[in-house]
Amino acid sequence: MGQARRSYSNKTAEWIEEALSALSDRGLYRELNILDRRGGLFFRNQAQGQPSTVLKDFSSNDYLGLAENFEVKQAASEAALALGGSSSSSRLVTGSFEVHRQLEQKLATWLGTEACLVFGSGYHVNSGVIPALVGRNDRVFADQLCHASIIDGAILSRAQLKRYSHNDLDQLESLLAKASVEVSFKGRVLIATESVFSMDGDSPDLARLVEIAEKYNAILLVDEAHAIGVFGKRGQGLLAEVNYNPESTLVTATLSKALGSFGGLVCCSSKMSELLVNKARSFIYSTALPPASVAAADAALGLVHESAPGVRLLSLASYLRKCLKDDGWEFGVGESHIVPLIIGASDRAVEVSSFLRENGFLVTAMRAPTVPEHLARLRISLNLKLSEEDCDQFVTVLSSSGFRPQVVGSR
Ligand SMILES: Cc1ncc(COP(=O)(O)O)c(C=O)c1O
Repeated sequence: MGQARRSYSNKTAEWIEEALSALSDRGLYRELNILDRRGGLFFRNQAQGQPSTVLKDFSSNDYLGLAENFEVKQAASEAALALGGSSSSSRLVTGSFEVHRQLEQKLATWLGTEACLVFGSGYHVNSGVIPALVGRNDRVFADQLCHASIIDGAILSRAQLKRYSHNDLDQLESLLAKASVEVSFKGRVLIATESVFSMDGDSPDLARLVEIAEKYNAILLVDEAHAIGVFGKRGQGLLAEVNYNPESTLVTATLSKALGSFGGLVCCSSKMSELLVNKARSFIYSTALPPASVAAADAALGLVHESAPGVRLLSLASYLRKCLKDDGWEFGVGESHIVPLIIGASDRAVEVSSFLRENGFLVTAMRAPTVPEHLARLRISLNLKLSEEDCDQFVTVLSSSGFRPQVVGSR
């Protein structure tokens, strides 16, 4: 005898429908854009029988073109063949291989720190490291535009989170001064920033930030996700050029952007790293990076070391800025390879992005909550597969779109 079919309430489906419509109404609905990538170009498959569209990459984070580099791919495939597809357990169980140790040593030497740990991703690093260092009685002071992984780490830590206006170190200092005279506050302080902001491409005054951290005895976390591989004499990023306190400073970053692989890293003192091995939950309770990703990052690091390719990328970025400026476009104050073209309304940003895509350029529209809702934008990120001619063509097409930018306002 079959059981009578139970009927279920569809309240959840209704709620999901409403949530999705609310996003659509605000121009914030997102969907996956399935692409293939070969030779620095993206290919979007059309309906069956039609040729695929070729798109120039003005959007990915493969800044140095290393994700498709032959030596990087070969290192990944050899490691997978020798050591397998997975590390098969957490670093603290059986997942710490010699390849992890070697990569960590090389990264520490490169960034000039005593120690380094690689994590499952850059997101894992920030969201795991912050709660390992501060807790309920402590405070995190984070730039208003810090990446979600930093904010999520601060929330997970249960420390009190204070956001200071973007790159406004006077405001940060006055918040810290206030906290330092509060009789009831005896906790630790952690300051978090990015060295190149992911959506704005600008940078804080790191030398001053280091001084402020010292003055208020704070731990300083600098996320160099968008700087390593690009800035610095040997691609070590921006903090390496500043004389910072090695005991209380951490550099976090990703292996997934300029280094063309996958995973995250934190460089710090040996003692700090010992603490993180014992306390960072995203390190302890997650499977170690697979050998292929570790080997790919190791090979990429060798290439960056040898040739400092960031110099050419930054010169391409200054060329694009000049072309955009000559054409009347405005962008933020940064000088990096990330150029934000602020459009304003979300649906307009999506329209410009679609226009560019129809004309052979892939530039994703960035909308809330990634950026403030009224500051939707095209986040142009350049890579070494692009040429000055590509930049000229891009500006010509952008100009022909008929869209005009909004002046970059306060955030
Ligand atoms: C500033 C910043 N930090 C951290 C991350 C996270 O890195 P991953 O992609 O390796 O998780 C990103 C990537 O989007 C980022 O932009």
